[in-house]
Amino acid sequence: MNSTIAYLTTQLEAALVAAFGPDLAGTDPVLVPTTNPKFGDYQANVALSLAKRLQDKPRAIAEALVAKLEVSDCCEPPAIAGPGFINLKLRTDYLQDQLRQMHQSDRLGVAPTSAPQRVIVDFSSPNIAKEMHVGHLRTTIIGDSLARLLEFRGHDVLRLNHVGDWGTQFGMLITHLRDVCPEAITDASTVDIGDLVAFYRQAKQRFDAEDDFKERSRQAVVELQAGDESARKAWQVLCDQSRREFQQLYDRMDIRITERGESFYNPLLADVVADLKASGLLVEDQGAQCVFLEGFTNKEGNPLPLIIQKSDGAYNYATTDLAAIRYRTQQDRAERVIYVVDAGQANHFTQVFQVARRAGWVPEGVELIHVPFGVVKGDDGKKFKTRSGDTVRLKDLLDEAVRRAQSDVENRLQQEERQESPEFIRHAAETIGMAAVKYADLSQNRTSDYIFNYDRMLALQGNTAPYMLYAYVRVQGISRKGDIDWSQLQQTVPVDLDDETEFALARHLLQLDEVILAVEADLLPNRLCQYLFELSQKFNQFYDRCPILQADEPKRTSRLVLADLTARTIQLGLSLLGISVLERM
Ligand code: ARG
Repeated sequence: MNSTIAYLTTQLEAALVAAFGPDLAGTDPVLVPTTNPKFGDYQANVALSLAKRLQDKPRAIAEALVAKLEVSDCCEPPAIAGPGFINLKLRTDYLQDQLRQMHQSDRLGVAPTSAPQRVIVDFSSPNIAKEMHVGHLRTTIIGDSLARLLEFRGHDVLRLNHVGDWGTQFGMLITHLRDVCPEAITDASTVDIGDLVAFYRQAKQRFDAEDDFKERSRQAVVELQAGDESARKAWQVLCDQSRREFQQLYDRMDIRITERGESFYNPLLADVVADLKASGLLVEDQGAQCVFLEGFTNKEGNPLPLIIQKSDGAYNYATTDLAAIRYRTQQDRAERVIYVVDAGQANHFTQVFQVARRAGWVPEGVELIHVPFGVVKGDDGKKFKTRSGDTVRLKDLLDEAVRRAQSDVENRLQQEERQESPEFIRHAAETIGMAAVKYADLSQNRTSDYIFNYDRMLALQGNTAPYMLYAYVRVQGISRKGDIDWSQLQQTVPVDLDDETEFALARHLLQLDEVILAVEADLLPNRLCQYLFELSQKFNQFYDRCPILQADEPKRTSRLVLADLTARTIQLGLSLLGISVLERM
């Protein structure tokens, strides 16, 4: 199965050359889906955009183009509308053929990419010894979803957790550990040091209050950097404890990620600085090693420096990211590096990307992309906080979503007078809770801030996970009632598209590949959510209007095929968002 939009684009490009000569090779035909089905399925706007260049009326250009356009295999004869839009309407037999191919395909007709890339997705990346909190929710969910979609398209994806596991804060943590839990450092077995957040807070308090503690903390940083065994062991204990806690959350959210924290790049930092020096980019400014940035100025209008090494010899966050870029492009041979990090770090990434390019570490054609997202806010429009004003722990947030999902399920079962096992309820609640949290985040355009609201994300109506899961469950209900084995469903005659709702559903189903390709390019998962939402709506309209099990053959089979395609599309689409379906709910 070929992407219809790709095929039509190719044909339009050929017609442009045939009509106006080789100069027009590679001209974008500006092909878009129509907003109103009355005008067909697609609309090409190229005649308008070429008017100036060809010094002719758009309508005349459109006519000349249509005369050379070969699309009769999939479209009705093209129509020219208004000042020169070319409207294309797909033929019914073409749609039927596409549906047949989609139904037979494991991938629902979405071909693997013909140009697989080595892609790195840098996401989640919490800081050691601090809790994962609501701030890590978006990067974790969005990053995982992008990785899933790129993997599905056949790219070679390396998911990297750039955890903050290095830096001066370890001085106070190590010192506090030595004081309160010395056995953690000498004992070979793992020691549980309890609540890491409380531990961090205590260490910080002592650091601010006790001079002796502060001095020993400074010393501990020096020891850690020099590779002192006791300091290393303490650092390891702290990292291990964090790691175990992070892993529990990843497991629960079904997220795979490989840890390659900041400490990994430590041995490479001196080399990075030397490399920058050799390429003449490094400038000493008040004892610090800097690169002066192009296009960045301070208040006085002077070029702004990116500090690479402070006057005391210490490296920083930017140095580590430069080392990471160099490693990812040279050792990992990444062709596309995607950083899913909050919008607040946009400047940081623009700066390090610029320095890396000027240093010559980024080969032609290699993309470094910051995928920014807005902050999570509460209903009051302020940063999402607990009642007492603390940052919300990710674990508590997930627990609360599941707790609320469970009470929804229990209420519904009571209303429907259904008896289900505790295991059924627990599983449904966990699946719905997790789905709701993920979907609510992914369905927003990530660049805007996001208002977190449990009630809205768990609602059975609207653009929510429960609505989508319910549409899927509905189809499974049909198969239970009619004793249908989907894997045995044989399409004997073309899918019937007589009813308007059948036609609309079929048209929408066939846009799956276009949507996936769009998300692959612009990295906006909300487009896939919108597609799935509209699919569920179109399915529900079809379901309300067209009897399925009661219909006579061959309509019955035809409608079962549409239902099956809908369920499989929802299942696939949700899986790319990191969400699993339920057979019953
Ligand atoms: N640890 C950082 C933070 O919590 C995020 C790291 C993002 N990735 C990167 N390569 N800088 O803000």
